[in-house]
Amino acid sequence: MIAEGLIACATRLVASGKGLLAMDESNPTCNRRFAALGISQTIEMRRAWRELLVTAPGLGESISGAILYDETIRQSDRHGRRFIDCLTSVGIVPGIKVDLGARPLALHPGEFVTEGLDGLRERLADYAGMGAQFAKWRAVIGLDGDHPGIACIRSNMQALARYAALCQEAGMVPIVEPEVLMAGTHSLERCQSVTGDVLTALFEELHVQGVLLEGVILKPNMVLPGLDSLTQDPVRTVAAATIECLSRSVPPAVAGIAFLSGGQSAERASARLNAMNDRTLIDRHPWPLVFSFARAIQQPALDCWRGKDANVMAAQEALVHRARCNHAALRGAYDAAMELAPAIPDASS
Ligand code: 13P
Repeated sequence: MIAEGLIACATRLVASGKGLLAMDESNPTCNRRFAALGISQTIEMRRAWRELLVTAPGLGESISGAILYDETIRQSDRHGRRFIDCLTSVGIVPGIKVDLGARPLALHPGEFVTEGLDGLRERLADYAGMGAQFAKWRAVIGLDGDHPGIACIRSNMQALARYAALCQEAGMVPIVEPEVLMAGTHSLERCQSVTGDVLTALFEELHVQGVLLEGVILKPNMVLPGLDSLTQDPVRTVAAATIECLSRSVPPAVAGIAFLSGGQSAERASARLNAMNDRTLIDRHPWPLVFSFARAIQQPALDCWRGKDANVMAAQEALVHRARCNHAALRGAYDAAMELAPAIPDASS
């Protein structure tokens, strides 16, 4: 019974021809993005921003699920309507980020392990009671010199698998997010090799914990050269390398794959996702390949909003525009011609 519910929810999230909106930035991350645009970093401004997102007209046409944060899941719009209800009323499934962030890994300077397993069973029950149907946990793997080491990979993948087991026990679909970071000068080949090691370790741990793969969504990075690499490979090379890596390390039983954007520009993320779903590559993967972007879907809207009521409609249009571009990319139908000049108001307005 639980298995059927998990599979139905996972299918709805990734196999309905739509993708996910990640709006689960922690308060420090959200504040950092606000500070960069001169937006005040208050609980009310974070609430106003999340209200803008969840009430954007037309969002439900391209978005299947939205990942919330602990502060946000408890909040409501200005009329007192819970954000969870705003989402479900337009067919968007609410989910929740449940990890408590990455902390330094003992005895391994420069490496991190994501924490949050203590008390997770009880927190999941609370979130399920509020209406969350799925959860997310992010592990961060840096590429730098000899990093990542085996201790970093194993401890993060075991934590992800234990989190996934607890989610399924609670009847919630786990999104497992092992993010190999873009920061650095590494090549696409090195990213592919490390991403393959990380995913192989992850699926071993999921197997050990007895997690039902048909009720799991994988949220990986695309295989990319480092942000500061002098060689920036073309869209098709990135798409082919990503699919090659996934097909070597991800079992076909997994419900679907929903990419993070990781610091790519919004247009590049759409173009790369599109290339993976166009007719030349679509037969090379058994899973739906969708998006679960935060920055690549929110940032143009945030640039537009800048904390001003007068900019809310234009910002919502920018958000829905990106959602539509990524929706088209799921069918291989995205084209640079879809990019309208976004209505970014003057910073002084
Ligand atoms: P980005 O798309 O900005 O990488 O964020 C995805 C996410 O959910 C980070 O945990």
